[in-house]
Amino acid sequence: MKFKNLRIFGGRAKPAEPDFSRLPQHIAIIMDGNGRWATARALPRTAGHRAGSENFRRIATLCNDIGIRYLTVYAFSTENWSRPKEEVDTIMSLFREYLTEACSELTKKNITLKIIGNTEPLSPDIRELIRETERLSLGNTGLHVNVCLNYGGRAEIVRAAQLLAERVKRGELEPEQIDVACFESCLYTAGIPDPDLIIRPSGELRSSNFLLWQSAYAEFYTTPVLWPDFGREDLFRAISDYQSRSRRFGGLEKR
Ligand code: IPE
Ligand code: IPE
Ligand code: MG
Repeated sequence: MKFKNLRIFGGRAKPAEPDFSRLPQHIAIIMDGNGRWATARALPRTAGHRAGSENFRRIATLCNDIGIRYLTVYAFSTENWSRPKEEVDTIMSLFREYLTEACSELTKKNITLKIIGNTEPLSPDIRELIRETERLSLGNTGLHVNVCLNYGGRAEIVRAAQLLAERVKRGELEPEQIDVACFESCLYTAGIPDPDLIIRPSGELRSSNFLLWQSAYAEFYTTPVLWPDFGREDLFRAISDYQSRSRRFGGLEKR
């Protein structure tokens, strides 16, 4: 079985090792704490973003190895533009680096990449890299990685409302035909199952505008560990914790 490959990551089974036969289908991560990680080491915040982007590669590879189907990461929010220009520029350069590398790496790893968010304000070369990487990785059958870039849950919902209003205006849709499924088809995540587990490293207890619609029945998990330090054991602990929860979706516990 696939998860047996984990032995190559070394070590005996840890108590926190999850049940690999009932993994969450979709894990979402708010990759937070890069700045604090750097500050704690007397490094510039940008060094934290670099360490965070390296960790994203490690965690995506691990999720692929254990057989997770969807991984969605919050990389840059619609509010993150308010940071100093130097910090934003570094984050954009890291995307550029990642996307360039992803063009050749993702097919080898059998991973599909999708960028979620409004890519219009991004620089033309990054937009071109996004198109190219998405095209090249389409059809891979392993992990689906969704990177939320210039993403905000509120902006996503407003965009969906605008798309629907336009269809109503054109006479293609009656207002009463708008239901949950119809609305979901206008979100960036159309066709992607809702996240089962949302992880926020760095100890914050808020969503910060992440997957507002899709998180309706997600299980939340937070840890004080900062994102660049969030490793295999932390992921396994989060999954084990998720597996101990009772998900009722408004109904009653199954007996
Ligand atoms: C998350 O780390 C990365 C982005 C928001 C782009 P932060 O930069 O928010 O790190 P902290 O929260 O300041 O430690
Ligand atoms: C959320 O983290 C956004 C990303 C991780 C990309 P922030 O650091 O921007 O959130 P706040 O400001 O602590 O709420
Ligand atoms: Mg933060």
